[in-house]
Amino acid sequence: MLFCIVVTSIFFNIFLVDFITCDGIFYLQRVPSSCVQTTVTTTQDNTTTTDCFIFSWQQITNLATNYTTYQDPTTNQTFYAQIAALTVLGTIDNRDLNYHCPPSGYNGVAPGCATQNNTHLVVLHINALDNKLYSINVILSGTPFPSPSSLVDNQPPFGTARHVFYGGIPTQSTDYLKICKRNSTTQCPNNDISAHALANPFPSNTGYGIFGIKRYDFVTNSVWIMDDVNQILICTAGTKYYYFNASGFFLYDYTSNTCIWSSACNYQCEVYNYNSRFLDYAGEWVITKKWGVGDMKPVAAQAWIGNAIDAAGIFPVILYIDNATGHYIGLDKIDEIPASNMGASYWYTAHDDTITGESVLKYHPNVVDVGCVSRLRDWSGPINDGEMVMTSKNSRLILWTAFFLYFFVT
Ligand SMILES: *[C@@H]1O[C@H](CO)[C@@H](O)[C@H](O)[C@H]1NC(C)=O
Ligand SMILES: *[C@@H]1O[C@H](CO)[C@@H](O)[C@H](O)[C@H]1NC(C)=O
Ligand SMILES: *[C@@H]1O[C@H](CO)[C@@H](O)[C@H](O)[C@H]1NC(C)=O
Ligand SMILES: *[C@@H]1O[C@H](CO)[C@@H](O)[C@H](O)[C@H]1NC(C)=O
Ligand SMILES: *[C@@H]1O[C@H](CO)[C@@H](O)[C@H](O)[C@H]1NC(C)=O
Ligand SMILES: *[C@@H]1O[C@H](CO)[C@@H](O)[C@H](O)[C@H]1NC(C)=O
Ligand SMILES: *[C@@H]1O[C@H](CO)[C@@H](O)[C@H](O)[C@H]1NC(C)=O
Repeated sequence: MLFCIVVTSIFFNIFLVDFITCDGIFYLQRVPSSCVQTTVTTTQDNTTTTDCFIFSWQQITNLATNYTTYQDPTTNQTFYAQIAALTVLGTIDNRDLNYHCPPSGYNGVAPGCATQNNTHLVVLHINALDNKLYSINVILSGTPFPSPSSLVDNQPPFGTARHVFYGGIPTQSTDYLKICKRNSTTQCPNNDISAHALANPFPSNTGYGIFGIKRYDFVTNSVWIMDDVNQILICTAGTKYYYFNASGFFLYDYTSNTCIWSSACNYQCEVYNYNSRFLDYAGEWVITKKWGVGDMKPVAAQAWIGNAIDAAGIFPVILYIDNATGHYIGLDKIDEIPASNMGASYWYTAHDDTITGESVLKYHPNVVDVGCVSRLRDWSGPINDGEMVMTSKNSRLILWTAFFLYFFVT
């Protein structure tokens, strides 16, 4: 079956226009009745017409950032997962898919989200071999933002919409990509939502790896150590250290040597919001390359796409869970405003199960080392190691051991 037709027209021997026509489908993953067949063309005209979305190829080329290269294990095709905020005009079935920031404080969202009109936040899947665009996930913002307590796993308004282009569309650097509804259909992949539940909370794991921002060509260390039994988490990005407990978090900034307490987001807000109210399953990806990571062995992961809400605010993400262990192993994030090479990425090359009551406490620098509190217990609360609650005597011993390790071993 032929999916793409190239039409070359010559008008008065002056204009040479290439129209590329493809078939595709479009649907909201959480709305079975949203499935439509689409006709995809490349055009020089960006005038909106009924039931069409118009993307700018120039923006796709200039703004999309690629942190992840993956192989689809069902086809063995390799794709770049490009993330971007793009200006997209038009609607299909009166859905505009424009991203809107939630009101500050919504479900614990920190202030700072800003976006622009007609902005779609997307993940573009570009084939590494033929350089064609095969699909797009659009991350929905959750507008009109119903009460967080009424949100249901895998039900609207959050989640993703998806464009699939059969045969792929050759990418180009100018003109517009126009995707129009042709017909309603029931041919969209049946997303067996319940078969792919995102563990909530994640199993507790430790992760050591990198945090990178492509725009600044910046790569630094990152650590994730989560202890769900004790409701404590350490998460770092370079010189910024976040120490979460059940009531809030300390943010220690090494550069300014300051430690700030905030109760705006606690352990639960940071960890439990990575869930199926906000994220849709995107498939099994074998990650073959990550930007900022040197030689890497392919890693089989489950990918999730949607919104993350945590101490840093709300941001759209691709989130990765290790296929073999269920460990959280990283995320790629998108900025809400169109700009080139934006976004950032966390990737944990080494990860393991957390030892309850031990992994977090052994990490340095801890809240005492950096001067946030004078005793670790002031932050951790009574520590449950899974068998016993630690006495102040042995926690002091651990503190001293930790102190010596920090100053004499590191
Ligand atoms: C649409 O095309 C016009 C004329 O080429 C251009 O000025 C305008 O910026 C375009 N709009 C978008 C949203 O790309
Ligand atoms: C993908 O590659 C594996 C290993 O090389 C092979 O066994 C499998 O048949 C391939 N699958 C497809 C769909 O080509
Ligand atoms: C966005 O749209 C609103 C309503 O159409 C308009 O008032 C506003 O100026 C627009 N903002 C930008 C940045 O274009
Ligand atoms: C649209 O779908 C209907 C029902 O599925 C079908 O009868 C009709 O032929 C389709 N039209 C086109 C143009 O594909
Ligand atoms: C995506 O990233 C990979 C590895 O970092 C790189 O090899 C590839 O050229 C990039 N692709 C694009 C389209 O930028
Ligand atoms: C992922 O895990 C499942 C279940 O353990 C297994 O069947 C599958 O082969 C794994 N996928 C990859 C790509 O390793
Ligand atoms: C979390 O740390 C803060 C600051 O030290 C402390 O006031 C609070 O009691 C701790 N919360 C728990 C549950 O231990």
